[in-house]
Amino acid sequence: MSTEITTETVPLLQVQDVSKYFGSVIALKGISMTLHAGEVMCLLGDNGAGKSTLIKILSGVHQPSEGHYLIEGKEVNFSSPRDALSVGIATVYQDLAMIPLMGISRNFFLGSEPTKGWGPFRRFNVNFADRVTREELARIGIQVRDTAQPVGTLSGGERQSVAIARAVYFGAKALILDEPTAALGVKEAGIVLRYIAQARARNLGVIFITHNPHHAYPIGDRFTLLNRGRSLGTFAKSEISREELTSMMAGGEELETLSHELAEFARTDQVAGAKLAEAAHELEEEVVEFHEAEHKSPSD
Ligand SMILES: Nc1ncnc2c1ncn2[C@@H]1O[C@H](COP(=O)(O)OP(=O)(O)O)[C@@H](O)[C@H]1O
Ligand SMILES: [Mg+2]
Repeated sequence: MSTEITTETVPLLQVQDVSKYFGSVIALKGISMTLHAGEVMCLLGDNGAGKSTLIKILSGVHQPSEGHYLIEGKEVNFSSPRDALSVGIATVYQDLAMIPLMGISRNFFLGSEPTKGWGPFRRFNVNFADRVTREELARIGIQVRDTAQPVGTLSGGERQSVAIARAVYFGAKALILDEPTAALGVKEAGIVLRYIAQARARNLGVIFITHNPHHAYPIGDRFTLLNRGRSLGTFAKSEISREELTSMMAGGEELETLSHELAEFARTDQVAGAKLAEAAHELEEEVVEFHEAEHKSPSD
């Protein structure tokens, strides 16, 4: 857990002893973290842990109250997200900044539209945009029938994937994903996890924010746990088991207890019954999957 700078590999991105105060609220205190090219660093923590605040510092939305921020070994002071983007730090937020009624390729190039022609004849270069969008999505395994298809008709996992592909195409070195799997079902989350793996294979550094250790463990190389603005430590995958990560995050057992409680509650409360039963059932499925995954992965 040392934060010494080694000479052989300069991290792509590094924060040293960063704190952030909002008036009397201590959102972050003494956080140190590194990200190397070609790795997935998972940032885990419950609601209010400070995950979003940390990534807002990394992406130039906030300035740290204390501490240092280095990109490829050089200290930086970003004053806007544009500064961060210009050195290759791309952030995909949960709401994605896409326009649901517009087509996939228009969204892909939103804000950086390719044009053709000059003066009054200057217009959006549809062919170029369509070709690039098709190629970039194919590289991550999505075959689009029609690039004019409204983004709003894609599944949640596909939308996240388009946003990731867009960041990669526009030259991101570091990709920060704020809870990309939070609103997704198990299968859809799997799709997003696969694209994260592909971004890593293309030597990007990825910071994957989640409160779900079951999404983090299969994909993460290292894990940083935040709790009420403080770091509980950073662990390489070889240093921590899925069970340890889960219990540090309040996982498996508590999930199971919660699912039983919900089921019990559903039996006693007629009005909310149906909804709660559904939630309990979903949790049960997650518990089953968690146990299956446990049995299937003896070594990783
Ligand atoms: N702009 C802000 N002003 C005041 N307090 C904030 C602000 N942003 C975050 N906080 C506080 O900082 C803490 C960490 O929040 P946040 O980074 O959003 O956590 P997480 O993303 O892990 O849920 C919370 O107590 C939150 O209320
Ligand atoms: Mg958050």
